[in-house]
Amino acid sequence: MRVVITGCKGQLGRLLTAAFAGHELLGLDLPEDDITGPMMSARIAGFAPDLVLHAAAYTDVDGCERDPDLAFRVNAVGTQSVALAARRARAAMVYVSTNEVFDGTRRDLYREWDHPNPLSVYARSKAAGEQIVRDLLDRFYIVRIAWLFGPGGVNFVTKILAGAEKDGALRVAVDEFGNPTYAPDLAAALAQLVRTGQFGIYHLTNAGFCSRYELAREIMRLAGKPDLPITPILSAEWPRPSQPPLHAVLANTNALALGITLRPWGEALAEYARVERLHVAG
Ligand SMILES: NC(=O)c1ccc[n+]([C@@H]2O[C@H](COP(=O)([O-])OP(=O)(O)OC[C@H]3O[C@@H](n4cnc5c(N)ncnc54)[C@H](OP(=O)(O)O)[C@@H]3O)[C@@H](O)[C@H]2O)c1
Repeated sequence: MRVVITGCKGQLGRLLTAAFAGHELLGLDLPEDDITGPMMSARIAGFAPDLVLHAAAYTDVDGCERDPDLAFRVNAVGTQSVALAARRARAAMVYVSTNEVFDGTRRDLYREWDHPNPLSVYARSKAAGEQIVRDLLDRFYIVRIAWLFGPGGVNFVTKILAGAEKDGALRVAVDEFGNPTYAPDLAAALAQLVRTGQFGIYHLTNAGFCSRYELAREIMRLAGKPDLPITPILSAEWPRPSQPPLHAVLANTNALALGITLRPWGEALAEYARVERLHVAG
């Protein structure tokens, strides 16, 4: 199969490159290959892909709030360019989206068919990308994920470890819930999903969910600092340009129906801790 991977240097893109290594790959990422560039659509279509894995995005949620033009240029217009290329090449496309397309006001889990109601600029730009893919393509997988972490990435786990190292104590939100998603597990599940040919909308996260506070506690336990003081706070007490949805917790209903499941997040986190030798210096 001929496969294009956008965002191939990113946290997920690197794992996708590994998961699809047996195929003919074209990897695209900044600074050489900007998906918002005028020639990018033709370049992707010219590769004649069978599959386009679109993982490139402007993922700095607070940066999106500060620069909405850039957020929409990359996450919406860039996605349009990639989707048009997939259409021209008659390729299937995977669009990686986010739990943040939901407003998180429900206590229940969000299913694939629930209506998005994005709040932040980042979330609105990603939801716009979803809409563009649905409008332009028949052969697509929209895959919503959450709280991604993986080798070599900058993510909640690495930020918590850095905070613990710097301050010897942490303040973490107890009222924000989500599904941690381990990038290698996600990449393997995506490889399984595209083999099915069952196009549609999917939620793919590790099984279970937790609060940021619970996740931070588990990270500290695995990093050998179970007693590091962690003060529970409300998300609103952490000043930042964007406020995350508080309970945008996903249920992987459609993937389960295809027999595609990811292990519990705690097991995945333990493997990540082992592989990356997570620890707090000092
Ligand atoms: N991380 C999460 O917790 C999370 C949660 C839900 C959904 N997602 C979605 O999952 C996907 C992968 O996320 P990730 O964590 O792997 O993100 P990431 O590490 O930020 O990777 C994204 C990659 O895309 C590149 N990129 C940005 N703008 C580009 C452009 N104009 N042209 C080409 N490449 C560009 C980035 O380059 P630079 O680094 O140079 O900007 C980066 O290498 C994204 O679609 C994201 O929205 C992520």
